[in-house]
Amino acid sequence: MTYVIAEPCLDVKDKTCIDVCPVDCIYETERMLVIDPGECIDCGACEPECPVEAIYPEDALPERWLPFVQVNAAWAQGGAEAVGAALESLDGRG
Ligand code: F3S
Ligand code: F3S
Repeated sequence: MTYVIAEPCLDVKDKTCIDVCPVDCIYETERMLVIDPGECIDCGACEPECPVEAIYPEDALPERWLPFVQVNAAWAQGGAEAVGAALESLDGRG
């Protein structure tokens, strides 16, 4: 399991979440921040800190935002560039 940052973060990037993560697994990309699922220890500290409620445990992510699981995971595959490409592949968003 991991926590996932979803659509509400897009172009908001409040960044409060970064400050509370004990393992520094939240990364900034051009349009949003993402959580590396391989590094997140599921502590949950970030979830209540986000003012736009963009952060969810993967198993509680609203269905319409399920594609953001892959958007977050793209970081580990190719950094900010891969996250941007994953976002662009989401129809009708951004
Ligand atoms: Fe985004 Fe919320 Fe963090 S807007 S940067 S997930 S505090
Ligand atoms: Fe960090 Fe949030 Fe995971 S604070 S460890 S990204 S649950």
